[in-house]
Amino acid sequence: MDLISFRDLDKGTVEKIFGLAEDIDRQLERKKVDKLEGIMATLFFEPSTRTKLSFQSSAERLGLQVVDFLADRSSLKKGESFTDTIKTVDGYCDVMAMRHPAEGAARLAAEVAEAPVLNGGDGANQHPTQTLLDLYTIRKLKGKIAGLNIHLVGDLKHARTMHSLVYGLGMFGAKVTMVAPKGLELEEHMVHEAEKRFNFKMESRDSIDLKDADVLYVCRVQEERFIDKYEAAKVKKEFTISADYIRKGKKDLIIMHPLPKIDEIPPEVDAMPQAKYFEQARNGIPVRMACIKMLLEG
Ligand code: CP
Repeated sequence: MDLISFRDLDKGTVEKIFGLAEDIDRQLERKKVDKLEGIMATLFFEPSTRTKLSFQSSAERLGLQVVDFLADRSSLKKGESFTDTIKTVDGYCDVMAMRHPAEGAARLAAEVAEAPVLNGGDGANQHPTQTLLDLYTIRKLKGKIAGLNIHLVGDLKHARTMHSLVYGLGMFGAKVTMVAPKGLELEEHMVHEAEKRFNFKMESRDSIDLKDADVLYVCRVQEERFIDKYEAAKVKKEFTISADYIRKGKKDLIIMHPLPKIDEIPPEVDAMPQAKYFEQARNGIPVRMACIKMLLEG
C-alpha cells in the first residue's frame, strides 16, 4: 500500500484519513499520542521545508525513528542508479517519504520497494498529502467543502499541488474557478479528466475578482520550471494578491497557499485574519501522521 497520487484514492479512503487526522489532532492536544514502531526514511531529491520536516516531525510524534537520505552526500554521486538506491534504503526502513524532480519517480520507487512509499511531490505531477491537508484545512475552517466557491489563482500549469487539488475539490463537490496567467492555465486534459470523473464543470477567468469566493487558493509562479526566466518574472508581477483584492472579498474569505510564497502575496496580507496559510501548513502534521499510520497499519 502506497500513497503516490490523489487519483488513486476514493472518497471513502480520504474520509478515513480525515477521521484518523481528527483523532490525532485531539491526541496531540492532550499530548498523548498512540505510538507505532518502526523507521521512516526520508528521501528528498528536491528542496523542501514543509513536506520533509512535517513528515519527519509526524514520524517522530508517532514514535518512529527517522533516517534521512541526503542525495548530495550519497552514492548517487558515484553513479549509483535511482532504483538501486531505493532497493538499498528499502532494507533500512519500514516506510519511505520521498520527493523527486522527475514525474513518475515515486511510482517507480513504489514498484521496486517493499516498504510503503509516500509521494511528497514528483516533478509537476502530484503532491497527494498536500491535497489531503488542503481539504482537511478547508473542512476544518469552513465546516464543509461541498458548494464552496474556491478560486485557484497562479501558475496552474506547473503547480503539482493544483494538479492534485482539482481532483480533491471535484471529489467533494466544490465549485472551482481557475484564474491563471496566459499560457500557465491548467492543462486541458487535467481539466477534462477531473470534470468527467466527478461530473462537474470548472470555470476559467482572465482576472482576479473575489466577490463570490469563499476560499482563495494561491500558488506561486514556479520559476524553476521555466526555460525563459524573463517570462517568469513578467507573469509574477501580474499575479500579486494585494490587500485591496482581499478587502473587496467576502468577510469570511480564507486565503490558502501551499507555500513557499515569494512575491505573489505581499507581507501586509499575512496580518489579515483571512490569511490561513501557516495554519494550513501546521495541519500537515495530523494529516501526515494519519497517512503514515494508515500505511503502516495496512
Ligand atoms: N508545500 C510544500 O510542498 O512545501 P515544501 O516545498 O517546502 O515542502
